[in-house]
Amino acid sequence: MPIKVYVDCTLGAGGHMEGMMQQHPELQTAVGIDVDPVAHSIAAERLAPLLGRPSGPTLHQLRGNYSDVLSLLSGCAAAGGPLVGRVDAMLMDLGVSSMQLDSAGRGFSFMADGPIDMRMDPGAALSAEELVNAAPEAELCRILRDYGEEKAWRAVARRIVTAREAGPITTTQQLVQVVGQTQLRGGNSSSSSSKRRGGGSGRGIHPATRTFQALRIAVNNEIVRLEQALPAAISCLSPGGRLAVISFHSLEDRAVKHAFMAAAGRPTPEQEALVSGPDGWRVLDSLAAAAQGRLITRKPLLAGPEEVAANPRSRSAKLRVFERAGGPAADGSSSKGSKRRRHAME
Ligand SMILES: C[S@@+](CC[C@H](N)C(=O)[O-])C[C@H]1O[C@@H](n2cnc3c(N)ncnc32)[C@H](O)[C@@H]1O
Repeated sequence: MPIKVYVDCTLGAGGHMEGMMQQHPELQTAVGIDVDPVAHSIAAERLAPLLGRPSGPTLHQLRGNYSDVLSLLSGCAAAGGPLVGRVDAMLMDLGVSSMQLDSAGRGFSFMADGPIDMRMDPGAALSAEELVNAAPEAELCRILRDYGEEKAWRAVARRIVTAREAGPITTTQQLVQVVGQTQLRGGNSSSSSSKRRGGGSGRGIHPATRTFQALRIAVNNEIVRLEQALPAAISCLSPGGRLAVISFHSLEDRAVKHAFMAAAGRPTPEQEALVSGPDGWRVLDSLAAAAQGRLITRKPLLAGPEEVAANPRSRSAKLRVFERAGGPAADGSSSKGSKRRRHAME
């Protein structure tokens, strides 16, 4: 299917956008969304050589959160009218960018010294410094356990609370010091011993990795924003349009999987009990009737060894794709679904 309208919900440095513009000469309207103004400047510079040709695409750069994709696209004055319902391809490449990680002043990285900031949107109210110095211990525990999957969550939270009693923790290296000394009772730890021994899924990672990841996800409210964005993004697709999401964290992948299953009319794990009950067939039927499209990837696609060698960050990437119903089928007819399902989508 030709891609006339493409929306990149995580424009970043514009790498994916550049690829789409180069590989899809039929592209007419391109929209790049990002919360980070620095990302927009970098992307604008990178994409400038591809713009301005009479037959080339028009690029709209929108600063905002992808959870607001519906209102951002509704307010975008694109040629051909409103974009909602006209998006042929949409991408979310989740998480932090290399540019953000490499900017010490943004505070995302434990490898460089800088303020503990971690806001993707520099205008957002909450920074990681406020979280580290003011969040109740129980909240720090929850963040470290759920978002960092940090085995030593209780010990790391305790160390942060003890350290901040002596004075505020303001720099990334201060935080690294605090976290780096944390030991789990029994020898399993978030510090050097887990680095040596692998520490389960934390094989060979820096002891502060999980703490920094957890704080970043909390500061930017990443999982909630993603859960809000997915159904909204699906509703923006054209018939046959596709949404691709690249995730790097198990919670992100779970949110994507569940949102896609719900949109495809399949029961999510929370609905399994209902489905296996006596009226399960009714539940299945009503879910199927409300389906908006289908899963293109039943299992997430992972990077192969060559890609991982060229781009080590892709090692933990998972790609899932959803297709909105109503697009042209391979035989040229409109794509099939049950009569009831098609009716529900009209
Ligand atoms: C992994 S980078 C994307 C890189 C991009 N695909 C490229 O090729 O350069 C993720 C980008 O998404 C942005 N971002 C993260 N969460 C966002 C959100 N909720 N709304 C809008 N942008 C977001 C970040 O600021 C960052 O620039």
